[in-house]
Amino acid sequence: MCATLEKYVINGGNVLDGEVSISGAKNAAVAIIPAVILCDEPCRIENIPNISDVSLIGRILQEMGAEVKRIDKSTLYINPTKINSCSATSDLVRGMRASYYLLGALLGRCHQAKVCLPGGCNFGARPIDLHLKGFAALGARHELVNGAIIDVKSDGKLQGNHIYLDFASVGATINIMLAAVKAEGQTVIENAAKEPHIVDLANFLNSMGAQIRGAGTDTIKIRGVDFLHGVTYSIIPDQIEAGTYMCAAAATRGRVLVNNVTPKHLESITAKLREIGCEIKEFDEAVLVDATVRPLNRCNIKTMPHPGFPTDCQPQFATLLCTVDGTSIINESVWDNRYQYVSELTLMGAHISVEGRLAIIEGGSKLTAAPVKATDLRAGAAMVIAGLCADGVTEISSIQYIERGYENIIEKLNALGADIKKVYYDHTTDSSLRA
Ligand code: UD1
Repeated sequence: MCATLEKYVINGGNVLDGEVSISGAKNAAVAIIPAVILCDEPCRIENIPNISDVSLIGRILQEMGAEVKRIDKSTLYINPTKINSCSATSDLVRGMRASYYLLGALLGRCHQAKVCLPGGCNFGARPIDLHLKGFAALGARHELVNGAIIDVKSDGKLQGNHIYLDFASVGATINIMLAAVKAEGQTVIENAAKEPHIVDLANFLNSMGAQIRGAGTDTIKIRGVDFLHGVTYSIIPDQIEAGTYMCAAAATRGRVLVNNVTPKHLESITAKLREIGCEIKEFDEAVLVDATVRPLNRCNIKTMPHPGFPTDCQPQFATLLCTVDGTSIINESVWDNRYQYVSELTLMGAHISVEGRLAIIEGGSKLTAAPVKATDLRAGAAMVIAGLCADGVTEISSIQYIERGYENIIEKLNALGADIKKVYYDHTTDSSLRA
């Protein structure tokens, strides 16, 4: 039997130079598209990234009866008025983490939701207890059906309440916002997450007539409304895609203008790149990363909820730190198992030891090409950066993870001077590459 898979082949060693344009934010898109379920009229969402996670959530909405059309490369038309189901239990739902936003959105719309437990990247336990605690505070009880489907329902309208999150969880903050938008009275979320896509979701909901204040601070107040009208809304640029190109520019000792970004969202990454010796210039909607000015040096990183250093940029920055002299220490404080990429980088000659949440990187050794795999989305981005820096030809398998979150990564990198292509191969023989 012939089983065709895809992989990236990178001929390493080229310095990145030029300009790249960043797409719309994946994590905003995968929250805003389900949020349209709450709307009483059709919406147009612009600056949508062309990535597989977005196609997936669009198809899930279609399965529920919504009309979802791609008007052009980056614009989606969604008519939620024909949604005829409050359950999402198909295999598609299991394929992505953000499908849990269907819980909050459906609860808000029909006071009931049946959704498969989410899939997505695996970097340790990914509980949703805080989401469920929030729903319970709004009056919705839940049960787990056959260990695979979460069934949440309330008797009538949800009731606003005061909710304190034990951890500033992005997903719980978003889900509670979605459920509370049409609840009776006021909901207050304390210790809310402050990530840029939370502000973006609140702006989107407010543009439809929701009453949400405080998004981007620790305390979000939501006064329930009865009706949300259709809008055209453009989502924010992707902070993590931008951070990835910034790391890639630095790792190859290049000079790259990263366009269509919000520099404020990149401050923690910018600060660390400056600390290791990069020159960074900020413009209104662009940042210039210049790693040609002086030799780069080590630094330590601790990942934190926003505005701290983003965990989703940790693997990419770690790869950059492998290329500079000295010992760097990474403290991953958000996820308990986000170092699966380390064994892959080790195959390429990196010296990294992991002790619990710490990774100790002995930098300065030249990376060499090897067959490696993307163990998750950002780990895959780290492999790409490693391949760009390495001597020789690096092959990266399991690239479906990378394509969950990076639009046109091959075209964007090649335009900067990289030599990367996607090839198809038969994994039953794993031999001749077919371009
Ligand atoms: C989102 C992002 C993900 C990013 C993460 C942290 C999306 C679609 N995904 O994931 O890329 O890495 O934020 O910035 O936006 N936790 C609990 N109980 C819960 C919820 C979370 O204990 O109910 C814990 C998690 O195990 C983890 C931490 O809180 O240790 C952070 O999780 P959270 O902020 O919720 O991440 P996600 O929303 O899943």
